[in-house]
Amino acid sequence: MTTNEKNLNLDNIYQEVNKRRNFAIISHPDAGKTTLTEKLLLYGGAIQQAGAVKARGNQRKATSDWMEIEKQRGISITSTVLQFEYEESVVNLLDTPGHQDFSEDTYRTLAAADNAVMLEDAAKGLEPQTRKLFEVCKLRKIPIFTFINKMDRPGRDPLSLLDEIESELKLTTLPINWPIGSGDQFRGVVDRINEEVILFDKAKRGAQSQEKRISLNDKNLTNYIEEELLNNTLEELELLDEAGAKYEKDKVFRGDLTPVFFGSAMTNFGVRPFLDSFLNLAKKPSSRSSNQGDIEPTKNKFSGFVFKLQANMDPKHRDRVAFIRVCSGRFEKDMSVKHSRTGKVIRLSRPQKIFGQDREVVDDAYAGDVIGLNNPGMFSIGDTLYTGSHLEYEGIPCFSPEIFSWLRNPNPSAFKNFRKGVNELREEGAVQILYDVDESKRDPILAAVGQLQLDVVKHRLKNEYGVDSSLETMAFQLARWVTDGWTVLDDVGRIFNCKIVKDCWNRPVILFKNEWNLNQIIEDHPKLNLSKVAPVVSGVQPIDL
Ligand code: G4P
Repeated sequence: MTTNEKNLNLDNIYQEVNKRRNFAIISHPDAGKTTLTEKLLLYGGAIQQAGAVKARGNQRKATSDWMEIEKQRGISITSTVLQFEYEESVVNLLDTPGHQDFSEDTYRTLAAADNAVMLEDAAKGLEPQTRKLFEVCKLRKIPIFTFINKMDRPGRDPLSLLDEIESELKLTTLPINWPIGSGDQFRGVVDRINEEVILFDKAKRGAQSQEKRISLNDKNLTNYIEEELLNNTLEELELLDEAGAKYEKDKVFRGDLTPVFFGSAMTNFGVRPFLDSFLNLAKKPSSRSSNQGDIEPTKNKFSGFVFKLQANMDPKHRDRVAFIRVCSGRFEKDMSVKHSRTGKVIRLSRPQKIFGQDREVVDDAYAGDVIGLNNPGMFSIGDTLYTGSHLEYEGIPCFSPEIFSWLRNPNPSAFKNFRKGVNELREEGAVQILYDVDESKRDPILAAVGQLQLDVVKHRLKNEYGVDSSLETMAFQLARWVTDGWTVLDDVGRIFNCKIVKDCWNRPVILFKNEWNLNQIIEDHPKLNLSKVAPVVSGVQPIDL
């Protein structure tokens, strides 16, 4: 490549990265994630009609044996990545499972996200799943944008919703707009930046709403909004102007200050202004730490990492797809890349963009994009792919499971297949596997963050490996990694009321019955340093069953 070509290439990468915004939505089931996603896609022209994201009821067709579980339960457990263009931007929305029994996939997806949108139901405020996902965002220090949804329904006082975020999540709030009333009395929002009122007008479901804006100083405002309601809003705004936080880009980028938006996804109110502001304030793909220091997204060499593996997305092919988050350079179809864990060179011949259940071959991709690669079993979660000199991104940590179960094999003659299934499902990251320290107890312990994850493992063992298995729930609810390893445990001596096991990297993990039990043990054994998140490993092979 001549110097001129090189510069042109760099210019092009720079422009493409600049256009990209990537985010995931964190929320509790029913807060309106599917509805908001549909509306966002509508603005991007990615779907013609809202309602296409999650076909409900009988419309939903199973697309694999394993997705049969989804069909039976009418839920969506598979994460997908949706990309759409909106004005000058290319937006990547990393979708996360919406069911309560969500799995570690959700956590891992956040490892590939540059921004998070925290979606709350205005009547409910913070809910358990949102809090859990928030913890992961905090760990990664990613910017968080808050969308308070369902303003067309009676909700909690907006100031108390903000107080809750501030006091419980220790996150400073910055309302970008402010609601005028709620429920039957919802009249719209005040756009605080432009000092305009955006009037609420129920759009037909699925349609793009027409925004009606009036200056906040317009004398005719009371033609649209009851005087008392307007005065209340003006008072609240004054309070926010005086005592509220000011915009500080660095604080938003560090995840310490959250811009807040009020709206109603179902009636398509406030979605477009949210999207506009979000794209303006969100973090672009930025540098990532690796063994070579921070890697800039505009670097000339391609790199990326595997953050999710999924099997049987398409029953006709019984394939496995590895999802790669591109971190730098340009990805091109048919390019050869190096696989850092094995040192092998791989030709990426069938890269795909996966949109819901549809696939499309990608020709190129840039930092912030996600591509799906057919995975012939060589990729593991956290693997780095790169061109140029050796590069390894920081791995994806394992998050603390909350459900533990022995996985029994009732049929010893089927042990070979049972073992194969367990090892492959672990490799894929479908579940975490722990082992008893007593080696005579060979059955593995499944550790998950949701019951559904365990049901999926059982179902897949039967369907894909032809083996029966049974689950035997263990009476533990918490796991902590012993950060200083086995020797500390020897020093500490016997610990009661909990169970010591090892993970597949041979690291000690303690299982506790409950929070109280955990606190008691921390108090009794001050030498024990315990961690909720497993340290990242690299360069070692895991223990198979
Ligand atoms: P999720 O993906 O976060 O689980 O939530 P989803 O979008 O499926 O929304 C959950 C329910 O909340 C749906 O009602 C949806 O229509 C409703 N909803 C979402 N946004 C709003 C909003 O802004 N205002 C109001 N009033 N409702 C909202 P459903 O009865 O479960 O389903 P459907 O029959 O309406 O499709």
